[in-house]
Amino acid sequence: MKPLMYAMPYSQKLAEQLASLSGAELGKLEVRRFPDGDSYVRVDVVGTSVEDRDVVIVAPLDRPDDKILPIWFLADNLRDLGAGRIGLVCPYLPYMRQDRRFLNGEALTSNFFARMMSSHFDWMVTVDPHLHRHKSLDAIYTIPSEVVHAAPLIAAWIRTNVEKPIIIGPDEESEQWVASVASQAGAPHLVLKKTRTGDRAVKVEMPDLGEFSSQTPVVVDDIISTAHTMIETVKELKTRGTPPPYCVGVHGIFAGRAHMELKQAGAAVIATCNTVNHPTNQIDISSLLAPAIERLTAATAPAAAALRTGNRPDAAVAK
Ligand code: R5P
Repeated sequence: MKPLMYAMPYSQKLAEQLASLSGAELGKLEVRRFPDGDSYVRVDVVGTSVEDRDVVIVAPLDRPDDKILPIWFLADNLRDLGAGRIGLVCPYLPYMRQDRRFLNGEALTSNFFARMMSSHFDWMVTVDPHLHRHKSLDAIYTIPSEVVHAAPLIAAWIRTNVEKPIIIGPDEESEQWVASVASQAGAPHLVLKKTRTGDRAVKVEMPDLGEFSSQTPVVVDDIISTAHTMIETVKELKTRGTPPPYCVGVHGIFAGRAHMELKQAGAAVIATCNTVNHPTNQIDISSLLAPAIERLTAATAPAAAALRTGNRPDAAVAK
């Protein structure tokens, strides 16, 4: 039987693309708030039975705190109604940056969030999570997971849209994405040194651009949040007299006025993947997510019977 796919309200378009590419059936869902702020979640079980079905929930989780409870209610409700395995397609995975206690007593939210997510879902697919001190999701998630890399699509976008690019990574953490994008785009790359002293206080140090100073800089990062990492990089490039830079992010969060401020700083073009809904979305990642969904539903399917009889399979099933 085809897997059933549910789109959280803000992810309808992506879910429609994924359902059509992965051969899933889109189920109907009502998610709203009661006047007191509590969440209301209802799945249409008259039109579509969920019994024994593999279920896929599509939920980009930028600004997660308001979104996460309804998703957990949906997953628990589906399980209660007899669904089989319940997977999460979470193109942007939040709470990955607090991956250690930088100051005494800080909550280690990457680990705590992973623990909570692992108790609600049977598997997860995401796009380029911010893996820095955690080397893989398996370090903190106990469910099978698959990470999809946007680099090939970003490289293809750069090849189509930018003449003579040089790919710039704003900090050492970006090396992993930037090196891969650059080699696939057939372009040189360099990585800057970043110091962050506050949420919006960022400094970047740039080496001499030498022979590359006339090439078009394409700043590539995994997350654009306050955009100050990109803004400081764009400002530094300006002082070197390069052509106006392109800014490409996998996940465009754009907190507050970040998008406007990055434009004002001098970014020629700002492009992001559609892992977070935003007007800058130019790179569609559904062609990478759909096969991953098919792999995970196929890999975990035999385990559904064991789950229903109360014999929960161990997390190694699809690793
Ligand atoms: C940091 O480690 C990430 O890779 C990004 O550079 C960072 O999240 C960007 O944040 P912001 O846009 O707030 O400077």
